[in-house]
Amino acid sequence: SAAEKGGYDHFMLKEIAEQPKAVADTLLGRIDASGRLTLDEVRIPDTVLREADKIVVVACGTAFHAGLIAKYAIEHWTRIPCEVELASEFRYRDPILGPRTLVIAISQSGETMDTLMALRHAREQGAKVLAVCNTNGSTIPRESDAVLYTHAGPEVAVASTKAFLTQLVACYLLALHLGQVRGTQWGDEVLAVVRELARIGEEVERVLETMEPVRALARSLAHKDTVLFLGRHVGHPVALEGALKLKELAYMHAEGFAAGELKHGPIALIEEDLPVVVVVPSPEGRSVLHDKIVSNIQEIRARGARTIVIAEEGDEAVVPYADHLVRIPATPTLLQPLVATVPLQVFACELATARGNEVDQPRNLAKSVTVE
Ligand code: G6P
Repeated sequence: SAAEKGGYDHFMLKEIAEQPKAVADTLLGRIDASGRLTLDEVRIPDTVLREADKIVVVACGTAFHAGLIAKYAIEHWTRIPCEVELASEFRYRDPILGPRTLVIAISQSGETMDTLMALRHAREQGAKVLAVCNTNGSTIPRESDAVLYTHAGPEVAVASTKAFLTQLVACYLLALHLGQVRGTQWGDEVLAVVRELARIGEEVERVLETMEPVRALARSLAHKDTVLFLGRHVGHPVALEGALKLKELAYMHAEGFAAGELKHGPIALIEEDLPVVVVVPSPEGRSVLHDKIVSNIQEIRARGARTIVIAEEGDEAVVPYADHLVRIPATPTLLQPLVATVPLQVFACELATARGNEVDQPRNLAKSVTVE
């Protein structure tokens, strides 16, 4: 009913709007009064965490994309090698697992059969499993050694939005916690990141307030067949998620690529007026990647692409090559996905509406897939 949707036309719009609160709620109770991180819920003993020599993330769909992003944070903050694998592929290749493997199973519903079977397989091989889950008491956390709940609240729309952002937050907290336990992260560094995370909700709110041009752009592209997405570093999984959202909601052909791969194939797809969304890394710190992606934008534009550029405020280098410029607030590199994903969600939702699709219940999809 309209009341359930809180005045929004679709649950998805409501859930997109709830993201600042979802992020804040997921931090709540995990940061104490002095700004320190406390993750008592991670009931796996510190000795086990200290000895872990490999982390494997298993998940499906949007949760898999959260895992791909989490890998950057996990390896950066813990220096433990981290693999991310589609849950549906995991157990069928006889993965190398043991008591020193920590498996992180990410699932909004906690009921996805592929993810459940992957974690059962991991536990049978002696690995410890930690669930990142949004649904209290669901099967995946019940069958795991420990759980870190995301506090997104109920997510009704089939296409995941607020759960995704909170999965990132939970994985970042977990990575910092692991870093703390293992001594690769010190109090001050953790505190600085936690402070940035605590500010992210407001940044997401600011992005949400500036989405009207993105909606207008989406409407103007409703007749298109294909949209490509490019990104680098953590922006690569963001591009994959942007493409998945378009497939799910707009039923359009959409693909995400690592921008560095453009020259190895995808550039052949570029033709006159093809919309290409580019997620631009921060010009600060990662300036090499930034420069490389700016030349990618130039290259595709020279071949006729219609460039839709998602770039930080103050990034002037992209301006000459952007047919459409979407500004996001400057954030530390690892946190950029939390703001950069939001315009892509709005874009997909508006395109679905413009194409007359059912936003909350896309054809052929289910909110939680309980068969393998
Ligand atoms: C389904 C949904 C996706 C979701 C995926 C994983 O395919 O349509 O939106 O990302 O399942 O769901 P989970 O509940 O495990 O996060």
